[in-house]
Amino acid sequence: MLSHKHINSKNSLGSPIATSSNNLSIVDPEIQRIIAHETHREQTTINLIASENYTHPAVLEATGSVLTNKYAEGYPGKRYYAGCESVDKAEQLAIDRCKQLFGAEHANVQPHAGSQANMAAYFALLNPGDTIMGMSLSEGGHLTHGHPVNFSGKFYKVVQYKVDPITEQINYDEVQRLAEQHKPKLIIAGASAYSRHIDFARFAAIAKSVGAFFMADIAHIAGLIAANLHQNPVPYADIVTSTTHKTLRGPRGAFMLSTQPLADSVDRAIMPGSQGGPFMHTIAAKAVAFKLALEPEFTTYQQQVVDNARAMAQTMQELGYRLVAGGTDNHLFMVDLRSKNITGLQAQIALEKAGITVSRSCIPFDPAKPWITSGIRLGTPAITTRGMGTHEAREIAYLIDEVVKKHDNNRQLLAVRQEVENKCALFPIYE
Ligand SMILES: Cc1ncc(COP(=O)(O)O)c(C=O)c1O
Repeated sequence: MLSHKHINSKNSLGSPIATSSNNLSIVDPEIQRIIAHETHREQTTINLIASENYTHPAVLEATGSVLTNKYAEGYPGKRYYAGCESVDKAEQLAIDRCKQLFGAEHANVQPHAGSQANMAAYFALLNPGDTIMGMSLSEGGHLTHGHPVNFSGKFYKVVQYKVDPITEQINYDEVQRLAEQHKPKLIIAGASAYSRHIDFARFAAIAKSVGAFFMADIAHIAGLIAANLHQNPVPYADIVTSTTHKTLRGPRGAFMLSTQPLADSVDRAIMPGSQGGPFMHTIAAKAVAFKLALEPEFTTYQQQVVDNARAMAQTMQELGYRLVAGGTDNHLFMVDLRSKNITGLQAQIALEKAGITVSRSCIPFDPAKPWITSGIRLGTPAITTRGMGTHEAREIAYLIDEVVKKHDNNRQLLAVRQEVENKCALFPIYE
């Protein structure tokens, strides 16, 4: 292994550097300090951001490997670059494990992120100007499901379905009605802020009845699906897209699943359609994450995520909070804060001061602006990864209540922060 000193005495260009645990502190102490600070922040705060998690050290190791050096445009066995022997094996492993995990005929593991996977899905199925139908962002959907500021809202005609104003759940009869009225070419199911089960089979039947393609975006609930704790859309959908870094607990990235007849269209929509060289280090890390998700312990983990969400949601209700859609079936839920005279933004800021990280969230038909919001979204994937159970989930609900009540009292917020730090010290993320 070359040391920095050795490189300097041999090579004034300062290249190439073999891996060493202290290279970063020597080459770029500023970035090293930022990473150390972030590690400390993660260790000492309670993370309830539903889309985040703490990935396995083996995933971090693969992500930080020499595979980052390799260009590999194309697919295993058909690359535009030489020297792809190792990365071919890594990508094939990722593909095989991903197919096994979700029972899919075809998998593409190259999408850089969830948004790129969705873009590729639309490229595979649609022409610009075609009509898509997805859930609106303000009712729990995602930007890429047709929001006007996003490519999906600019390239395609968009019909948006909302949730039912009374139940705050998807009204499948209304989805059917809209589909019949607008005859979209693609119907999208999936959400970023929806706490109830999604009936993918019903969505597929609606799509079929109007001759539309059906796509399921499982970015949030992929881990639950892998653990059989949520209906799997693979038997019903033409294309399934997902991120790998949320409940699935892998590296930051995404993948696509499809039926065999759509395999070529999906692959071509990624490369050359919308991406260049794949991130081979991330693809190797996805392979590691899929392997871990195939282990029985992963199902135990996902069950605990769901149990923790239910325990926290129930405690919030006991403390007098109204929950959107009345509760949760998955890893997250939304709290309506209007009766507590605090906005989502104010709650998010106060909770952060107290060491509890959450995302503010629109509630359905929110009277507040999207920047302000009337609610917060709480999720349990991250606290469950660090070993917290239903007892801690309930205790955290009490801490949130204390913060909401005393949100303008800095001294009290710091007292909660001390409690949070004590609790976190009992559940270290990385030893
Ligand atoms: C349902 C859904 N789809 C797609 C995405 C986009 O993923 P990314 O942030 O990786 O682009 C998200 C991320 O929040 C999501 O919640």
